[in-house]
Amino acid sequence: MIGHRGAALSAPENTLAGFRRARALAAPWVELDVRLAKGDLPVVIHDDTLDRTTDGTGSVADCPPETLGTLDAGSWFGKRFAGERVPTMAEAAALIAALGLGLNIEVKAAAGREADTARLAVAATRQAWPADRAPPLMSSFSRQALQAAREAAPDWPRALLVDGLPADWHQAALGLGCTVICADHRRLDQRQVARVRAAGLALLAWTVNDPGRARQLFDWGVDGVFSDAPDRILAVA
Ligand code: G3P
Ligand code: MG
Repeated sequence: MIGHRGAALSAPENTLAGFRRARALAAPWVELDVRLAKGDLPVVIHDDTLDRTTDGTGSVADCPPETLGTLDAGSWFGKRFAGERVPTMAEAAALIAALGLGLNIEVKAAAGREADTARLAVAATRQAWPADRAPPLMSSFSRQALQAAREAAPDWPRALLVDGLPADWHQAALGLGCTVICADHRRLDQRQVARVRAAGLALLAWTVNDPGRARQLFDWGVDGVFSDAPDRILAVA
């Protein structure tokens, strides 16, 4: 059970409050999205622009950390979250480690920055992540990002993120040293689940907020799901 962007249905996504909320809802893991702000600082935000989840506007890649640090990433979700910030990767990793949660880092990247984003996200996380804890799971839709993650942290597990399973999913996963596939649950059927599991790979499905659907996926053999509402899913896990 992986809290998606923290616990995105009950706290602003990709914020420290969201990761605390996931912990309070008993999610054992959280997923977050990382991308680079101006100056190559890895920060935790989903979109390539600030507009939807902060009171800022424009591209994250063009926003200097000094400005980013002043933005409100909570008020859009609810007044009680006013003052939440866009966390840096290092801040988020430190809190998630302190909360005792597992961490899945999804590398999002501007075009051409895929490898740099993965490399810098690994470096920032290393500063904050205790060496005696199980390492974070690195994931991305970008194969370049996964290759860079492999070079930066060969011993950290990796997941190939896909919408539907591409024809070369097995070859791609093997080539990148991925042990996990993360797939859009809406595109998964029972036969595909069986094929991935028979290949010896773990399969995680995103983003599942309906407990009935989660139960069906677990019955098919899916290893875990990402959910905005971890408490709902834990009730059937
Ligand atoms: O990592 C699973 C899921 O987070 C992928 O989609 O758009 O929510 O980052 P998205
Ligand atoms: Mg994500």
